[in-house]
Amino acid sequence: MNKAVGSQWNATEMEEAARRHLLSPSEAMEKLGQSARPLLSRGDGIYVIDAKGRRLIDGPAGMWCTQIGYNRREIADAIAEQALQLAYNSPWYTVNSPSAELAARIAAMTPGDLNRVFFTTGGSTAVDSALRFVEFYNNVLGRPEKKHIIVRREGYHGSTALTAACSGRAGNWPNFDIISDRISFISSPNIRLAGDKDEAAFLDFLVDEFRQEIARVGADKVAVFLAEPLLASGGVIIPPKGYHARFKAVCEEHDIVYISDEVVTGFGRCGEWFASEKVFGVVPDIITFAKGVTSGYVPLGGFAISERLLDKVSGDNARGSNYSNGYTYSGHPVSCAAALANIAVIEKDGILEHVRDISGYFAERLHSLADLPLVANVRASGLVGCVECLVDTSSPNVTDFDKRIGARIDIHCAELGLIVRPLGNMCVMSPALIITREQIDDMIGILRQGIERAAAEIMAGELV
Ligand SMILES: Cc1ncc(COP(=O)(O)O)c(C=O)c1O
Repeated sequence: MNKAVGSQWNATEMEEAARRHLLSPSEAMEKLGQSARPLLSRGDGIYVIDAKGRRLIDGPAGMWCTQIGYNRREIADAIAEQALQLAYNSPWYTVNSPSAELAARIAAMTPGDLNRVFFTTGGSTAVDSALRFVEFYNNVLGRPEKKHIIVRREGYHGSTALTAACSGRAGNWPNFDIISDRISFISSPNIRLAGDKDEAAFLDFLVDEFRQEIARVGADKVAVFLAEPLLASGGVIIPPKGYHARFKAVCEEHDIVYISDEVVTGFGRCGEWFASEKVFGVVPDIITFAKGVTSGYVPLGGFAISERLLDKVSGDNARGSNYSNGYTYSGHPVSCAAALANIAVIEKDGILEHVRDISGYFAERLHSLADLPLVANVRASGLVGCVECLVDTSSPNVTDFDKRIGARIDIHCAELGLIVRPLGNMCVMSPALIITREQIDDMIGILRQGIERAAAEIMAGELV
C-alpha cells in the first residue's frame, strides 16, 4: 500500500496495512498476515470504540495501564504544552523540570528510604535497569561473584534479554535464547499448587524452598530476589499472607537485594500509590514502576531505590565508579509531564480512595461467578482479578482444551461488548480505576454470559 502522507485512510485500508506491515508482540507465525486484530479507533473512560463504532468495556485497561481512563483532556493538554515548551533534553548531561518534580513526587509515595528515582522507557527497561544497577553495585563493592537472580515460576518481568530470562512463564521462551546461567526459579506462590497443605504450611514450604535455593547457589553468589507483589500476567496470583515480609527477612539475612516489580500494582491498581508496603507489608530495596504512572497515555517507566544501597556505592564509597546506564529517553519531559498530570487527576478525583472503596464490590461480583461449573478459581486484589476456567475443576493441571475454552470465552465476551485479555484459560479483569458499581455489574454480566456460551458449546459438542 502506498498512499500519500496526510491522506485519509478508511478502516479497511488500515486493517490491511496492519495485516501486511505490522509485526505485533504476539504472533502465531503460521498465520502471519492472515488474521485481522480488532482495530480500535477511540477510547472513552473505561470503554474503547472499534473501527465499526462498537463500544466495548476495556476489561484489562489496555495492558493494566489506563488507570484514569481514556479521553482525559488534562493529560492531553499537559502533553501538548510540554511538547511546545521543551520537547526533549539529553538526560546524560542536562535535566528537565517535569522529571525533577516527578522524581520528588515518586520519592514521597514510596516506602522507607526509597528516595532516588531512575527513569526509563517502560516496564522491561525499568526492571532491566534495576537488575543492572545491582550488578553495578556488587561490582563496585568488590564482589563480582554476587550476580545470581532468584525469581518465581509464573512471574513476568518484561521483554529485554535479561527480563525475559527472569520471566517464569514458559510460553514466552520457545525459540529465543534465554540467559540461564545466573537465574533460577522457585515455586509460584499459587495456593492452587499447595496440594493438601493449608496456607500457613504452604508459606513455610515456599520460604524453605527459597532458603534451599540460596544454599544451593551459595549466599555469597545470590544478588537479587525479583518479585511482583502479586503475579499479574501469571494470572493474578496472590501469595499467602505474610509471604513478602518473610522473603524480605531471608534477603536481609543474606544481603540479597529485594526488587519489588510494581509495574502492574503501582499507581493505584491496589488502592495505593505503591502496594509493596501498604497492601503486602514489605519495604523492598528497589521498586520498579511503569504503565499506570502515565495511565498509558505515553511510555514511561523507572525504579526507585533505597538510599541505604546508594550510600554504599556513592560519595566517599564510590571507589572511583561511574554509573553509566540509561536511555536517550530516560526522564523524557513529555512523558514526565503526562505523569504529573496523571497524578494530579488521581489526587483531584480521589481515585485511590475510590479503588479502596469499590474493590470489595469488584471481588464480590467476580466471586459470584463461582457457581458456574467451568469456574475453578476466582481471585482479586484491588481492581485486578482473575476467573480461572477448567473442565476438571479438581485438577491443578491446565489442558490445551482449557486454553481453547478460554479463547472461546474471550471471543464471546468481545461479541457481547467486553474485551478480556487473552491469557490461556484465565479471564483477567483489571479495568480503568474509575469504574463504577454499575459498570462492574455490566462487565461481570457479560463475563457470565461469555462463560455460559462456551459451556453450552462444550455440551453441544461444538468445542473440542
Ligand atoms: C510485572 C511486570 N513487569 C514488567 C513488565 C514489562 O513492562 P513493559 O511491557 O512496559 O516493558 C510487565 C508488563 O506487563 C509486567 O507486568
